[in-house]
Amino acid sequence: MQKKRETFSSNFGLLMTMIGVAVGLGNVWRFPYMVGLFGGASFVLFYIAAVFFIGIPALMAEWTLGRSTRRGTLGAFEKGGLPGGKYVGFFFFFVVFCATGYYSNSIGWVGYYGISQVVNALGGAMNPEAILPPQQGFNLVSFLLQMLMTGLVLLAASLVLIKGLRKGIEKVSKIFMPLLFSILIILIIRAVTLPGSSEGIKWYIGSFDFKNLTAPVMAAALGQAIFSLSLGGTFMVVYGSYLEKSASIPKNAVFTALGDLFAGLLAGLAIFPALFAFGLAPDSGPGLIFSTLPKSFALMPLGWLFGLLFFAALFGAAYLSDVAALEVLVAGITDNTSIERKKAVRLVCGIVFLLAIPPMINFKIFVPWDLFFGSGMQTLGTFMAVITAVWCTKRASALKELARGSDKPFPLILYWWMRIVIPLAVLFVGLNWLLESVFQVKLLE
Ligand code: ALA
Repeated sequence: MQKKRETFSSNFGLLMTMIGVAVGLGNVWRFPYMVGLFGGASFVLFYIAAVFFIGIPALMAEWTLGRSTRRGTLGAFEKGGLPGGKYVGFFFFFVVFCATGYYSNSIGWVGYYGISQVVNALGGAMNPEAILPPQQGFNLVSFLLQMLMTGLVLLAASLVLIKGLRKGIEKVSKIFMPLLFSILIILIIRAVTLPGSSEGIKWYIGSFDFKNLTAPVMAAALGQAIFSLSLGGTFMVVYGSYLEKSASIPKNAVFTALGDLFAGLLAGLAIFPALFAFGLAPDSGPGLIFSTLPKSFALMPLGWLFGLLFFAALFGAAYLSDVAALEVLVAGITDNTSIERKKAVRLVCGIVFLLAIPPMINFKIFVPWDLFFGSGMQTLGTFMAVITAVWCTKRASALKELARGSDKPFPLILYWWMRIVIPLAVLFVGLNWLLESVFQVKLLE
């Protein structure tokens, strides 16, 4: 018997939840370090274009797939008519298990950094970097700290997941998202009023140069749009399956993408002016917010408080994305078996905890794990979801689904854009990933 599917209680709840799914480590950790590595304003500008021209249509495709099939990853590809869709669903279900493990682990690092800001301000001597895995080999202290923090993150997520969509996920998102944006505004005011911060603002948004717009920069910006919007045939497909028939997919996709975009842009504005004010380099890569940024907090008056706010905001944002990832797994189980929600949540969190262990050992395992289950498979999943939504579904049904909640028909040109341009753009990102991360060649430069 088909169980009745929960849907969002209001459009505000829908938007806060969807923005909560999208905003996460990708906005506050990944976006700023990528801006730093790929040269500032040129990357930012192309990223904005990527969100509008590729991210939003791809998001619409994933929601369409979720809503029309009323299924998450496990079921949507098959019901959507993709040949071999059943196995594709199983594959991405497994990918989400592996990705959620290391994502939960990274949230644990953020929590530990937040706690250390307070402990050190109270006169303690806590080294936040103690939780980071070693480059190679094994470090027992880091390993045990990661086990503890990952366990706490999963426990906190399970408390919300058990309550379901409306009473759990939607309720928490409605509190966390406005709080996150308020904290970012406070941090920006602090950063831009530091003496010497204007150089950072200029570098971040005021120095666009077409010369810097190389193929690797474009592929990185497109990949970041996919990551940040939580595309990948997983999170957004299952959350799309919770959309009311009357909700407009195009309108909500634009607002969700805007919320996600602003979160990233604001995070950059909270970080770069502060770095420049203290003469710190913006191009330190993935360690930017874990190694470089804390130095700027240490140098500013009441820095511990701003540090705490920063890591608390990052924790909250990432936590909601983690809840979404876990929901993909919980829904996969409750949709396809007779296991009830509470048991499914416990089962999923237990397995995810075990799968979080290998990348805790060292960065030699963590980095390829992230590159494969994160960036690489997310790109492939987006491709599969878009193909299923606009190639395997009959044109009339897809157009009808996309036009629901609006009194106008869905523009045909946009439908063709989704069919042709989006898969090609996603393939370009996938090719760049394959060359750079798997074969370690930079052919696109
Ligand atoms: N979109 C999520 C993030 O940005 C996965 O972290």
